[in-house]
Amino acid sequence: MIPEARSRIWRRPHDMHDSIRLTDTNSESESTERPVALITGGTDGIGRAVASQVAQAGIRVLLVGRNRDRGFEAARQLSSEQLGSGNPLVEHQYLSADLPLLSETAALANTVSRPTGRLDALVCCAGNFSLRPEWTSEGLERSLVLNYLSRFLLAQRFLPALGRAPSGRLVLVSNAGKYGDSLDINDLQYRHGRPGFRVSARTQFANDLLRSSWPIDIKTPPSRSHACFRES
Ligand SMILES: NC(=O)c1ccc[n+]([C@@H]2O[C@H](COP(=O)([O-])OP(=O)(O)OC[C@H]3O[C@@H](n4cnc5c(N)ncnc54)[C@H](OP(=O)(O)O)[C@@H]3O)[C@@H](O)[C@H]2O)c1
Repeated sequence: MIPEARSRIWRRPHDMHDSIRLTDTNSESESTERPVALITGGTDGIGRAVASQVAQAGIRVLLVGRNRDRGFEAARQLSSEQLGSGNPLVEHQYLSADLPLLSETAALANTVSRPTGRLDALVCCAGNFSLRPEWTSEGLERSLVLNYLSRFLLAQRFLPALGRAPSGRLVLVSNAGKYGDSLDINDLQYRHGRPGFRVSARTQFANDLLRSSWPIDIKTPPSRSHACFRES
């Protein structure tokens, strides 16, 4: 069970233009009419469970993860779960990306943004819990990018589409608020921090800040953002 921690109306800036288009192997009319959800970490765990529920509602799901076998299998299962549901069959799709790399996150956003379509929900589940800082080939702290920066990048890219959707949703799944989290803005990459809970806890705190900032930055209703956590 994922209780909603907070939700608030957020708006998009007046100067954001409609530039988001989705890759779609189906007809253009289906891609523009059927709601679409992009779920990072949708191939396993919480994200996979969310994907099932979303697909059952007749929404087309784009699943993101690294393990290709698991990803293709999850997309196939989503389609077979729909058999007998009474909803029209939808082609769900697996997209591979290693999200601690901003280059891969940006490439994912480009793929999703191509041809025609819409985005009704961005659900960010991909995340880790690490006690040790690690630095990626891009020189950034891995947990910070996976749990926060990649979400920021995807959200920035898709806020215009979510703002256009009839009931756009942005969902950040983390454990924000569970611990006494804090973030040292003078050491975002954790060059001087010590191993321990803070490596992950600071990224959860960043998620909370991220969600809190959007009601101020986004100008047009009716979309909403949610920050979620899972109770133990
Ligand atoms: N489980 C808990 O008790 C708990 C508690 C609090 C918060 N959370 C948070 O909830 C979220 C989901 O947790 P979970 O337990 O459901 O996780 P999980 O079962 O381990 O599933 C993680 C999902 O994210 C994907 N993923 C992991 N690393 C990735 C990467 N580098 N790039 C792209 N995709 C990646 C995985 O696919 P691949 O492995 O194929 O990449 C998988 O689909 C996380 O953000 C976690 O911090 C979980």
